[in-house]
Amino acid sequence: MLLQHKIQSAAQVFQKGNTMPYLMGLDISTTGAKALIINETGRVIAVANTPQPISQPQPLWSEQNPADWWDGIVQSIRAALAESGLSGDDISAIGLTGQMHGLVLLDAQGQVLRPSILWNDQRTQAQCDYMTEVVGAQRLLELTGNPALTGFTAPKILWVRDNEPDVYAKAAQVLLPKDYIRYKLTDAYATDLAGAAGTSLLNVAERAWSQDVLDALDIPAAWMPPVHEGTEVTSRISAPAAAATGLSVGTPVVGGGGDQAAGAIGMGCVRPEVIGVTVGTSGVVFAPLSSYAYEPEGRLHAFCHAVPETWHFMGVMLSAAGSLQWYKDTFAATMDYDSLLAEAEAVPAGSEGLFFLPYLTGERTPHPDPLARGAFIGITSRHSRGHMTRAVLEGVAYGLKDSFTLVDQVGLPEEFEVRISGGGAKSPVWQGIIADVLGAPLVNINTTEGGAFGAAVLASVAAGVFDDVASACAAMIQTGEGVAVGEHAPIYAERYDIFQSLYPTLKGTFAEL
Ligand code: XUL
Repeated sequence: MLLQHKIQSAAQVFQKGNTMPYLMGLDISTTGAKALIINETGRVIAVANTPQPISQPQPLWSEQNPADWWDGIVQSIRAALAESGLSGDDISAIGLTGQMHGLVLLDAQGQVLRPSILWNDQRTQAQCDYMTEVVGAQRLLELTGNPALTGFTAPKILWVRDNEPDVYAKAAQVLLPKDYIRYKLTDAYATDLAGAAGTSLLNVAERAWSQDVLDALDIPAAWMPPVHEGTEVTSRISAPAAAATGLSVGTPVVGGGGDQAAGAIGMGCVRPEVIGVTVGTSGVVFAPLSSYAYEPEGRLHAFCHAVPETWHFMGVMLSAAGSLQWYKDTFAATMDYDSLLAEAEAVPAGSEGLFFLPYLTGERTPHPDPLARGAFIGITSRHSRGHMTRAVLEGVAYGLKDSFTLVDQVGLPEEFEVRISGGGAKSPVWQGIIADVLGAPLVNINTTEGGAFGAAVLASVAAGVFDDVASACAAMIQTGEGVAVGEHAPIYAERYDIFQSLYPTLKGTFAEL
Protein backbone atom coordinates (compact mmCIF):
# COMPACT_ATOMS: atom_id res chain seq x y z
CA MET A 1 0.00 0.00 0.00
CA LEU A 2 2.72 2.38 1.05
CA LEU A 3 4.83 1.37 -1.96
CA GLN A 4 1.83 2.15 -4.15
CA HIS A 5 1.54 5.50 -2.41
CA LYS A 6 5.20 6.19 -3.13
CA ILE A 7 4.86 5.27 -6.78
CA GLN A 8 1.71 7.35 -7.10
CA SER A 9 3.31 10.37 -5.51
CA ALA A 10 6.33 9.99 -7.81
CA ALA A 11 3.95 9.76 -10.79
CA GLN A 12 2.06 12.86 -9.67
CA VAL A 13 5.24 14.89 -9.42
CA PHE A 14 6.28 13.45 -12.77
CA GLN A 15 3.03 14.72 -14.38
CA LYS A 16 3.73 18.22 -13.17
CA GLY A 17 6.79 17.94 -15.33
CA ASN A 18 9.11 19.46 -12.79
CA THR A 19 10.87 16.42 -11.42
CA MET A 20 11.41 12.66 -11.70
CA PRO A 21 11.55 9.73 -9.35
CA TYR A 22 14.75 9.63 -7.29
CA LEU A 23 16.43 6.51 -5.99
CA MET A 24 18.87 6.17 -3.11
CA GLY A 25 21.72 3.66 -2.78
CA LEU A 26 23.43 3.13 0.59
CA ASP A 27 26.81 1.41 0.78
CA ILE A 28 28.47 0.23 4.01
CA SER A 29 31.99 -0.45 2.78
CA THR A 30 35.05 -1.08 4.95
CA THR A 31 36.30 2.43 4.28
CA GLY A 32 33.12 4.50 4.32
CA ALA A 33 29.36 4.76 4.72
CA LYS A 34 28.08 6.22 1.46
CA ALA A 35 24.69 7.62 0.41
CA LEU A 36 24.00 8.22 -3.29
CA ILE A 37 20.97 9.71 -5.01
CA ILE A 38 20.31 9.14 -8.73
CA ASN A 39 17.42 9.96 -11.01
CA GLU A 40 15.76 7.53 -13.40
CA THR A 41 18.23 8.30 -16.20
CA GLY A 42 21.07 7.18 -13.91
CA ARG A 43 22.38 10.69 -13.39
CA VAL A 44 24.11 11.09 -10.03
CA ILE A 45 22.34 13.90 -8.15
CA ALA A 46 24.27 13.75 -4.90
CA VAL A 47 26.78 11.57 -3.11
CA ALA A 48 28.15 11.73 0.43
CA ASN A 49 30.62 9.43 2.14
CA THR A 50 31.55 9.25 5.83
CA PRO A 51 34.91 7.49 6.42
CA GLN A 52 34.83 4.50 8.78
CA PRO A 53 37.44 3.48 11.35
CA ILE A 54 38.71 -0.10 11.32
CA SER A 55 40.48 -1.89 14.14
CA GLN A 56 43.00 -4.74 14.15
CA PRO A 57 43.08 -5.73 17.82
CA GLN A 58 45.29 -8.77 17.12
CA PRO A 59 47.31 -10.01 14.11
CA LEU A 60 44.92 -11.37 11.42
CA TRP A 61 41.89 -9.74 13.10
CA SER A 62 39.77 -7.04 11.45
CA GLU A 63 36.75 -5.47 13.18
CA GLN A 64 34.39 -2.50 13.02
CA ASN A 65 31.64 -1.25 15.31
CA PRO A 66 28.12 -1.39 13.84
CA ALA A 67 27.31 1.81 15.78
CA ASP A 68 29.96 3.62 13.68
CA TRP A 69 28.28 2.43 10.45
CA TRP A 70 24.95 3.76 11.67
CA ASP A 71 26.35 7.15 12.73
CA GLY A 72 28.18 7.36 9.38
CA ILE A 73 25.22 6.48 7.22
CA VAL A 74 22.91 8.90 9.08
CA GLN A 75 25.45 11.65 8.40
CA SER A 76 25.80 10.65 4.73
CA ILE A 77 22.03 10.42 4.12
CA ARG A 78 21.53 13.87 5.63
CA ALA A 79 24.44 15.28 3.59
CA ALA A 80 23.21 13.74 0.31
CA LEU A 81 19.67 15.04 0.84
CA ALA A 82 21.05 18.50 1.64
CA GLU A 83 23.36 18.51 -1.40
CA SER A 84 20.54 17.44 -3.71
CA GLY A 85 18.00 19.91 -2.34
CA LEU A 86 15.53 17.01 -2.19
CA SER A 87 13.39 15.99 0.75
CA GLY A 88 12.81 12.48 2.05
CA ASP A 89 9.46 12.47 0.22
CA ASP A 90 11.28 12.72 -3.13
CA ILE A 91 13.04 9.37 -2.62
CA SER A 92 10.93 6.60 -4.21
CA ALA A 93 12.92 3.63 -2.89
CA ILE A 94 16.22 2.78 -1.24
CA GLY A 95 18.69 -0.03 -2.05
CA LEU A 96 21.35 -1.33 0.34
CA THR A 97 24.76 -2.72 -0.42
CA GLY A 98 27.95 -3.21 1.53
CA GLN A 99 30.91 -5.32 2.50
CA MET A 100 30.02 -9.00 2.40
CA HIS A 101 30.69 -11.85 4.85
CA GLY A 102 30.97 -9.73 8.06
CA LEU A 103 29.34 -11.09 11.21
CA VAL A 104 27.01 -8.89 13.26
CA LEU A 105 25.70 -10.77 16.29
CA LEU A 106 22.64 -9.45 18.17
CA ASP A 107 20.92 -10.58 21.37
CA ALA A 108 17.16 -11.18 21.71
CA GLN A 109 16.61 -7.45 22.30
CA GLY A 110 18.42 -6.51 19.08
CA GLN A 111 21.52 -5.22 20.90
CA VAL A 112 24.94 -5.70 19.27
CA LEU A 113 26.90 -8.30 21.28
CA ARG A 114 30.47 -7.67 20.06
CA PRO A 115 32.27 -5.73 17.29
CA SER A 116 31.60 -7.03 13.80
CA ILE A 117 34.22 -9.51 12.50
CA LEU A 118 34.90 -8.42 8.90
CA TRP A 119 35.38 -10.09 5.50
CA ASN A 120 39.16 -9.60 5.61
CA ASP A 121 39.59 -11.11 9.10
CA GLN A 122 41.72 -14.26 8.94
CA ARG A 123 41.32 -15.77 12.44
CA THR A 124 39.05 -18.70 11.55
CA GLN A 125 41.22 -21.36 9.87
CA ALA A 126 40.49 -23.92 12.66
CA GLN A 127 36.73 -23.35 12.25
CA CYS A 128 37.02 -23.73 8.44
CA ASP A 129 38.79 -27.06 8.94
CA TYR A 130 36.00 -28.13 11.34
CA MET A 131 33.30 -27.13 8.81
CA THR A 132 35.03 -29.11 6.06
CA GLU A 133 35.20 -32.13 8.35
CA VAL A 134 31.60 -32.13 9.63
CA VAL A 135 29.83 -31.11 6.40
CA GLY A 136 32.28 -32.78 4.00
CA ALA A 137 34.33 -30.86 1.43
CA GLN A 138 32.31 -32.01 -1.58
CA ARG A 139 28.92 -31.51 0.09
CA LEU A 140 29.88 -28.01 1.22
CA LEU A 141 30.92 -27.13 -2.32
CA GLU A 142 27.72 -28.53 -3.85
CA LEU A 143 25.43 -26.82 -1.36
CA THR A 144 27.11 -23.47 -0.79
CA GLY A 145 29.08 -23.11 -4.06
CA ASN A 146 32.34 -22.63 -2.16
CA PRO A 147 34.79 -24.32 0.19
CA ALA A 148 34.92 -23.05 3.79
CA LEU A 149 36.94 -19.81 3.60
CA THR A 150 38.27 -17.81 6.53
CA GLY A 151 36.59 -14.59 5.36
CA PHE A 152 33.08 -16.06 5.24
CA THR A 153 30.43 -15.68 7.98
CA ALA A 154 29.78 -19.23 9.24
CA PRO A 155 33.33 -19.87 10.54
CA LYS A 156 33.09 -16.54 12.39
CA ILE A 157 29.94 -17.71 14.20
CA LEU A 158 31.81 -20.90 15.16
CA TRP A 159 34.82 -18.85 16.29
CA VAL A 160 32.58 -16.92 18.71
CA ARG A 161 31.16 -20.23 19.96
CA ASP A 162 34.67 -21.63 20.51
CA ASN A 163 36.27 -18.52 21.98
CA GLU A 164 33.59 -16.30 23.53
CA PRO A 165 31.02 -18.70 25.02
CA ASP A 166 29.45 -15.93 27.15
CA VAL A 167 28.74 -13.88 24.02
CA TYR A 168 27.52 -16.93 22.14
CA ALA A 169 25.09 -17.83 24.94
CA LYS A 170 23.29 -14.49 24.42
CA ALA A 171 23.17 -14.67 20.58
CA ALA A 172 19.74 -14.60 18.95
CA GLN A 173 20.27 -13.02 15.51
CA VAL A 174 22.94 -13.04 12.79
CA LEU A 175 23.11 -10.10 10.37
CA LEU A 176 25.47 -8.94 7.63
CA PRO A 177 26.86 -5.38 7.89
CA LYS A 178 24.42 -3.71 5.47
CA ASP A 179 21.52 -5.62 7.07
CA TYR A 180 22.33 -4.06 10.42
CA ILE A 181 21.68 -0.72 8.69
CA ARG A 182 18.42 -2.15 7.28
CA TYR A 183 17.45 -3.13 10.84
CA LYS A 184 18.22 0.38 12.13
CA LEU A 185 16.34 1.96 9.21
CA THR A 186 13.27 -0.27 9.18
CA ASP A 187 13.25 -2.28 12.42
CA ALA A 188 13.18 -5.52 10.35
CA TYR A 189 15.61 -8.41 10.13
CA ALA A 190 16.18 -9.31 6.46
CA THR A 191 18.97 -9.96 3.99
CA ASP A 192 19.49 -10.33 0.23
CA LEU A 193 20.45 -13.56 -1.54
CA ALA A 194 23.77 -12.30 -2.92
CA GLY A 195 24.90 -11.34 0.57
CA ALA A 196 23.45 -14.52 2.11
CA ALA A 197 25.47 -16.62 -0.38
CA GLY A 198 28.67 -15.28 1.22
CA THR A 199 27.84 -16.78 4.62
CA SER A 200 28.56 -20.47 3.74
CA LEU A 201 25.08 -21.21 5.14
CA LEU A 202 22.97 -20.74 2.00
CA ASN A 203 21.82 -23.44 -0.37
CA VAL A 204 22.91 -21.36 -3.33
CA ALA A 205 21.06 -23.44 -5.96
CA GLU A 206 17.77 -23.24 -4.04
CA ARG A 207 18.23 -19.63 -2.92
CA ALA A 208 17.26 -20.54 0.67
CA TRP A 209 19.13 -21.18 3.95
CA SER A 210 20.63 -24.67 3.95
CA GLN A 211 19.05 -26.64 6.79
CA ASP A 212 21.69 -29.33 6.12
CA VAL A 213 24.62 -27.00 6.77
CA LEU A 214 22.90 -25.23 9.69
CA ASP A 215 22.17 -28.61 11.32
CA ALA A 216 25.69 -29.93 10.74
CA LEU A 217 27.16 -26.82 12.37
CA ASP A 218 24.45 -26.68 15.06
CA ILE A 219 23.59 -23.06 14.23
CA PRO A 220 19.89 -22.30 14.93
CA ALA A 221 17.94 -21.46 11.75
CA ALA A 222 15.99 -18.91 13.84
CA TRP A 223 19.15 -16.78 14.01
CA MET A 224 19.17 -16.27 10.24
CA PRO A 225 17.13 -13.38 8.76
CA PRO A 226 14.54 -13.97 5.97
CA VAL A 227 16.20 -13.91 2.51
CA HIS A 228 14.96 -11.73 -0.37
CA GLU A 229 15.79 -11.13 -4.01
CA GLY A 230 17.66 -7.87 -4.65
CA THR A 231 14.63 -6.04 -6.07
CA GLU A 232 12.14 -7.20 -3.42
CA VAL A 233 10.91 -4.73 -0.79
CA THR A 234 12.03 -6.10 2.57
CA SER A 235 10.69 -3.37 4.87
CA ARG A 236 10.09 0.39 5.16
CA ILE A 237 11.64 3.39 6.87
CA SER A 238 10.49 3.56 10.51
CA ALA A 239 9.50 6.72 12.38
CA PRO A 240 12.68 6.81 14.53
CA ALA A 241 14.87 6.27 11.43
CA ALA A 242 12.98 9.00 9.55
CA ALA A 243 13.59 11.39 12.46
CA ALA A 244 17.31 10.52 12.49
CA THR A 245 17.95 10.68 8.72
CA GLY A 246 15.44 13.03 7.10
CA LEU A 247 14.01 10.16 5.03
CA SER A 248 10.21 9.70 4.99
CA VAL A 249 8.33 7.11 7.04
CA GLY A 250 7.20 4.23 4.81
CA THR A 251 9.83 4.65 2.05
CA PRO A 252 10.48 1.11 0.76
CA VAL A 253 13.89 -0.50 1.25
CA VAL A 254 14.79 -3.31 -1.18
CA GLY A 255 16.93 -6.40 -0.63
CA GLY A 256 19.86 -4.84 -2.50
CA GLY A 257 23.01 -6.93 -2.75
CA GLY A 258 26.49 -7.67 -1.46
CA ASP A 259 29.00 -5.12 -2.75
CA GLN A 260 30.31 -7.25 -5.62
CA ALA A 261 26.85 -8.18 -6.95
CA ALA A 262 25.56 -4.62 -6.60
CA GLY A 263 28.77 -3.29 -8.17
CA ALA A 264 28.30 -5.69 -11.09
CA ILE A 265 24.78 -4.33 -11.61
CA GLY A 266 26.29 -0.85 -11.58
CA MET A 267 28.43 -2.04 -14.53
CA GLY A 268 25.49 -3.68 -16.33
CA CYS A 269 26.84 -7.21 -15.71
CA VAL A 270 23.42 -8.83 -15.48
CA ARG A 271 23.64 -11.55 -18.17
CA PRO A 272 26.29 -14.15 -19.00
CA GLU A 273 27.52 -12.21 -22.05
CA VAL A 274 28.76 -9.29 -19.93
CA ILE A 275 31.80 -10.01 -17.75
CA GLY A 276 32.99 -7.45 -15.20
CA VAL A 277 36.60 -6.73 -14.25
CA THR A 278 37.03 -4.39 -11.29
CA VAL A 279 40.42 -2.98 -10.34
CA GLY A 280 39.79 -1.57 -6.86
CA THR A 281 41.91 -2.22 -3.76
CA SER A 282 41.02 -5.82 -4.57
CA GLY A 283 40.60 -7.14 -8.13
CA VAL A 284 37.48 -8.97 -9.21
CA VAL A 285 36.39 -10.93 -12.26
CA PHE A 286 32.59 -11.30 -12.19
CA ALA A 287 30.69 -13.62 -14.55
CA PRO A 288 26.85 -13.78 -14.39
CA LEU A 289 25.21 -17.21 -14.78
CA SER A 290 21.64 -18.06 -15.79
CA SER A 291 21.67 -21.29 -13.77
CA TYR A 292 23.58 -22.48 -10.71
CA ALA A 293 26.99 -24.05 -11.22
CA TYR A 294 30.13 -24.37 -9.09
CA GLU A 295 33.77 -24.67 -10.08
CA PRO A 296 34.64 -28.34 -9.43
CA GLU A 297 37.62 -27.48 -7.22
CA GLY A 298 35.96 -24.47 -5.56
CA ARG A 299 38.62 -22.10 -6.90
CA LEU A 300 36.00 -19.54 -8.02
CA HIS A 301 33.22 -18.29 -5.75
CA ALA A 302 29.76 -19.37 -6.93
CA PHE A 303 27.12 -17.04 -5.43
CA CYS A 304 23.56 -15.84 -6.06
CA HIS A 305 23.51 -12.62 -8.08
CA ALA A 306 21.42 -9.68 -6.87
CA VAL A 307 19.46 -10.03 -10.15
CA PRO A 308 16.48 -12.31 -9.34
CA GLU A 309 16.97 -15.99 -10.28
CA THR A 310 20.51 -15.36 -11.51
CA TRP A 311 23.87 -16.60 -10.16
CA HIS A 312 27.49 -15.70 -10.77
CA PHE A 313 31.05 -16.90 -10.63
CA MET A 314 33.62 -14.60 -9.12
CA GLY A 315 37.37 -14.58 -8.73
CA VAL A 316 38.76 -12.20 -6.10
CA MET A 317 42.41 -11.18 -5.86
CA LEU A 318 43.03 -9.31 -2.61
CA SER A 319 45.60 -6.68 -3.72
CA ALA A 320 45.05 -5.15 -7.16
CA ALA A 321 45.15 -1.33 -7.09
CA GLY A 322 46.15 -1.99 -3.47
CA SER A 323 49.48 -3.32 -4.82
CA LEU A 324 50.14 -0.19 -6.88
CA GLN A 325 49.17 2.04 -3.97
CA TRP A 326 51.53 0.20 -1.60
CA TYR A 327 54.31 0.38 -4.21
CA LYS A 328 53.87 4.11 -4.83
CA ASP A 329 53.53 4.99 -1.12
CA THR A 330 56.65 2.96 -0.30
CA PHE A 331 58.97 3.75 -3.22
CA ALA A 332 57.65 6.82 -5.02
CA ALA A 333 55.63 8.77 -2.45
CA THR A 334 56.53 12.15 -3.93
CA MET A 335 55.64 11.23 -7.53
CA ASP A 336 52.19 11.56 -9.02
CA TYR A 337 50.56 8.50 -10.59
CA ASP A 338 50.75 9.93 -14.13
CA SER A 339 54.54 10.37 -14.02
CA LEU A 340 55.01 6.95 -12.40
CA LEU A 341 52.88 5.25 -15.06
CA ALA A 342 54.61 7.19 -17.86
CA GLU A 343 57.91 5.62 -16.75
CA ALA A 344 56.28 2.19 -16.83
CA GLU A 345 54.90 2.81 -20.31
CA ALA A 346 58.42 3.44 -21.64
CA VAL A 347 59.59 -0.02 -20.53
CA PRO A 348 59.22 -3.05 -22.86
CA ALA A 349 56.26 -5.39 -22.28
CA GLY A 350 57.34 -8.16 -19.93
CA SER A 351 59.54 -5.73 -17.94
CA GLU A 352 62.66 -7.47 -19.27
CA GLY A 353 62.11 -10.56 -17.19
CA LEU A 354 61.01 -8.88 -13.95
CA PHE A 355 57.90 -10.31 -12.23
CA PHE A 356 55.80 -9.07 -9.33
CA LEU A 357 53.59 -11.38 -7.24
CA PRO A 358 50.67 -9.32 -5.94
CA TYR A 359 49.93 -11.33 -2.77
CA LEU A 360 50.59 -8.44 -0.37
CA THR A 361 47.65 -9.34 1.90
CA GLY A 362 47.59 -13.08 1.21
CA GLU A 363 45.40 -14.32 -1.66
CA ARG A 364 41.97 -15.78 -2.37
CA THR A 365 41.64 -16.66 -6.10
CA PRO A 366 43.13 -18.90 -7.35
CA HIS A 367 45.32 -19.54 -4.30
CA PRO A 368 43.20 -19.40 -1.13
CA ASP A 369 46.25 -18.78 1.09
CA PRO A 370 46.34 -16.19 3.89
CA LEU A 371 50.12 -16.80 4.16
CA ALA A 372 50.96 -16.00 0.51
CA ARG A 373 53.37 -13.03 0.19
CA GLY A 374 54.20 -10.43 -2.42
CA ALA A 375 57.53 -10.64 -4.29
CA PHE A 376 59.67 -9.09 -7.01
CA ILE A 377 61.38 -11.91 -8.89
CA GLY A 378 64.14 -11.66 -11.45
CA ILE A 379 65.69 -8.27 -10.55
CA THR A 380 68.97 -7.42 -12.32
CA SER A 381 71.09 -4.28 -12.25
CA ARG A 382 69.52 -3.31 -15.59
CA HIS A 383 66.12 -2.83 -13.99
CA SER A 384 64.95 0.71 -13.23
CA ARG A 385 62.01 2.12 -11.30
CA GLY A 386 60.01 2.07 -14.55
CA HIS A 387 60.59 -1.70 -14.79
CA MET A 388 59.48 -2.19 -11.19
CA THR A 389 56.32 -0.15 -11.76
CA ARG A 390 55.51 -2.00 -14.96
CA ALA A 391 56.10 -5.33 -13.23
CA VAL A 392 53.50 -4.33 -10.58
CA LEU A 393 50.94 -3.42 -13.29
CA GLU A 394 51.68 -6.68 -15.12
CA GLY A 395 51.62 -8.80 -11.94
CA VAL A 396 48.14 -7.54 -11.07
CA ALA A 397 46.99 -8.15 -14.66
CA TYR A 398 48.31 -11.75 -14.46
CA GLY A 399 46.41 -12.17 -11.18
CA LEU A 400 43.21 -11.06 -12.93
CA LYS A 401 44.04 -13.46 -15.76
CA ASP A 402 44.14 -16.31 -13.19
CA SER A 403 40.46 -15.65 -12.37
CA PHE A 404 39.56 -14.97 -16.00
CA THR A 405 41.14 -18.28 -17.05
CA LEU A 406 39.09 -20.18 -14.45
CA VAL A 407 35.91 -18.46 -15.66
CA ASP A 408 36.89 -19.43 -19.21
CA GLN A 409 37.45 -23.05 -18.17
CA VAL A 410 33.98 -23.33 -16.60
CA GLY A 411 32.47 -21.86 -19.74
CA LEU A 412 32.44 -18.33 -21.12
CA PRO A 413 29.66 -17.76 -23.69
CA GLU A 414 30.77 -17.84 -27.32
CA GLU A 415 30.46 -14.08 -27.55
CA PHE A 416 31.04 -11.86 -24.58
CA GLU A 417 32.08 -8.37 -23.61
CA VAL A 418 34.45 -7.46 -20.76
CA ARG A 419 33.58 -4.24 -18.91
CA ILE A 420 36.18 -2.62 -16.70
CA SER A 421 35.73 -0.34 -13.70
CA GLY A 422 37.38 0.71 -10.44
CA GLY A 423 39.91 3.40 -9.50
CA GLY A 424 42.87 1.47 -10.95
CA ALA A 425 41.09 1.07 -14.26
CA LYS A 426 41.26 4.80 -14.94
CA SER A 427 44.83 4.53 -16.26
CA PRO A 428 44.96 3.91 -20.03
CA VAL A 429 48.43 2.34 -19.60
CA TRP A 430 47.12 -0.21 -17.12
CA GLN A 431 43.97 -0.83 -19.16
CA GLY A 432 46.15 -1.57 -22.19
CA ILE A 433 48.26 -4.06 -20.20
CA ILE A 434 45.12 -5.76 -18.79
CA ALA A 435 43.55 -6.08 -22.27
CA ASP A 436 46.79 -7.58 -23.63
CA VAL A 437 47.24 -9.97 -20.70
CA LEU A 438 43.60 -11.14 -20.76
CA GLY A 439 43.67 -11.28 -24.55
CA ALA A 440 40.25 -9.60 -24.51
CA PRO A 441 39.20 -6.07 -25.47
CA LEU A 442 37.85 -3.96 -22.60
CA VAL A 443 34.83 -1.68 -22.57
CA ASN A 444 34.56 1.36 -20.28
CA ILE A 445 31.28 2.46 -18.71
CA ASN A 446 29.90 5.83 -17.64
CA THR A 447 29.12 4.89 -14.02
CA THR A 448 31.72 5.25 -11.31
CA GLU A 449 29.81 4.85 -8.06
CA GLY A 450 30.02 1.05 -7.97
CA GLY A 451 27.85 -0.79 -5.45
CA ALA A 452 25.83 2.26 -4.30
CA PHE A 453 24.80 2.86 -7.92
CA GLY A 454 23.84 -0.81 -8.37
CA ALA A 455 21.79 -0.71 -5.17
CA ALA A 456 19.92 2.35 -6.46
CA VAL A 457 19.30 0.50 -9.76
CA LEU A 458 17.73 -2.37 -7.77
CA ALA A 459 15.56 0.19 -5.94
CA SER A 460 14.40 1.62 -9.29
CA VAL A 461 12.83 -1.74 -10.18
CA ALA A 462 10.98 -1.97 -6.86
CA ALA A 463 9.76 1.61 -7.33
CA GLY A 464 8.18 0.59 -10.64
CA VAL A 465 10.42 2.87 -12.72
CA PHE A 466 11.64 -0.18 -14.71
CA ASP A 467 10.20 -3.66 -15.23
CA ASP A 468 13.41 -5.49 -14.45
CA VAL A 469 17.10 -5.04 -13.71
CA ALA A 470 18.18 -5.54 -17.34
CA SER A 471 15.89 -2.72 -18.57
CA ALA A 472 17.08 -0.48 -15.74
CA CYS A 473 20.72 -1.12 -16.67
CA ALA A 474 20.00 -0.57 -20.37
CA ALA A 475 18.47 2.83 -19.56
CA MET A 476 20.95 3.99 -16.95
CA ILE A 477 24.34 2.62 -17.99
CA GLN A 478 26.17 3.66 -21.14
CA THR A 479 29.28 2.01 -22.49
CA GLY A 480 32.12 4.29 -23.54
CA GLU A 481 35.49 3.97 -25.22
CA GLY A 482 36.98 0.53 -25.65
CA VAL A 483 40.56 -0.71 -25.36
CA ALA A 484 41.64 -3.15 -28.06
CA VAL A 485 44.01 -6.09 -27.58
CA GLY A 486 47.40 -4.78 -28.63
CA GLU A 487 50.61 -6.10 -30.14
CA HIS A 488 52.02 -7.24 -26.78
CA ALA A 489 49.40 -9.95 -26.22
CA PRO A 490 51.66 -12.78 -27.54
CA ILE A 491 54.52 -11.72 -25.24
CA TYR A 492 52.16 -11.77 -22.25
CA ALA A 493 50.71 -15.16 -23.23
CA GLU A 494 54.24 -16.58 -22.98
CA ARG A 495 55.13 -14.71 -19.79
CA TYR A 496 51.89 -15.81 -18.10
CA ASP A 497 53.16 -19.42 -18.06
CA ILE A 498 56.17 -18.26 -16.05
CA PHE A 499 53.95 -16.21 -13.71
CA GLN A 500 51.78 -19.26 -13.08
CA SER A 501 54.80 -21.34 -12.08
CA LEU A 502 55.95 -18.85 -9.40
CA TYR A 503 53.36 -19.32 -6.62
CA PRO A 504 53.63 -23.14 -6.52
CA THR A 505 57.42 -22.81 -6.37
CA LEU A 506 57.33 -20.29 -3.51
CA LYS A 507 54.31 -21.53 -1.54
CA GLY A 508 56.36 -23.52 0.99
CA THR A 509 58.76 -20.61 1.51
CA PHE A 510 55.84 -18.21 2.10
CA ALA A 511 54.50 -20.54 4.79
CA GLU A 512 57.93 -20.66 6.46
CA LEU A 513 58.27 -16.85 6.37
C1 XUL B 1 33.65 -10.31 -1.69
C2 XUL B 1 34.54 -9.67 -0.69
C3 XUL B 1 34.71 -8.21 -0.71
C4 XUL B 1 34.04 -7.65 0.52
C5 XUL B 1 34.51 -6.27 0.87
O1 XUL B 1 33.67 -11.70 -1.61
O2 XUL B 1 35.13 -10.29 0.15
O3 XUL B 1 34.17 -7.66 -1.83
O4 XUL B 1 32.68 -7.73 0.33
O5 XUL B 1 34.40 -5.37 -0.08
